[in-house]
Amino acid sequence: MRKIIIASDHGAVALKSEIVSFLKTKNCDVNDMGVNSEDPVDYPDIAALACNEFKKGGYDFGILLCGTGIGVSITANKIKGIRCALIHDLFTAEMAKAHNDANFIAFGGRVKYSVPVTKMIEKFMDTNFAGDRHIRRVNKMMDTENKC
Ligand code: RB5
Repeated sequence: MRKIIIASDHGAVALKSEIVSFLKTKNCDVNDMGVNSEDPVDYPDIAALACNEFKKGGYDFGILLCGTGIGVSITANKIKGIRCALIHDLFTAEMAKAHNDANFIAFGGRVKYSVPVTKMIEKFMDTNFAGDRHIRRVNKMMDTENKC
């Protein structure tokens, strides 16, 4: 069973519920870290909370949500060990796993996507990391955390 962590700011509460319901239909073990109200919170706090929980181990990947997906993804990518991809279609959902081996994906609750977010998540889940030359590139991405 896949274990997935999900968290959202106030800008994507309805989208989070939709995703959690979808993941349950796929028999995933979902850790929903909130928020569940539209009272304003600060998206960097939400991203850090979920990423720090993810780093305790046992999760397959994480999903971060805010109004655009931008704020949570920028924050997540500042946390050591996190590779968060801001997804906007089926192609980027596939490449985020195949080429970047992303361990977090981000979406925006206020964004009008051309395909349902659940379809993008399904594509990400159904794709394998391509390995080969991409291992070197992913390693270089992660080395950047120490070099810069
Ligand atoms: C909150 O109003 C909004 O700024 C946030 O959800 C997100 O879109 C930030 O990137």
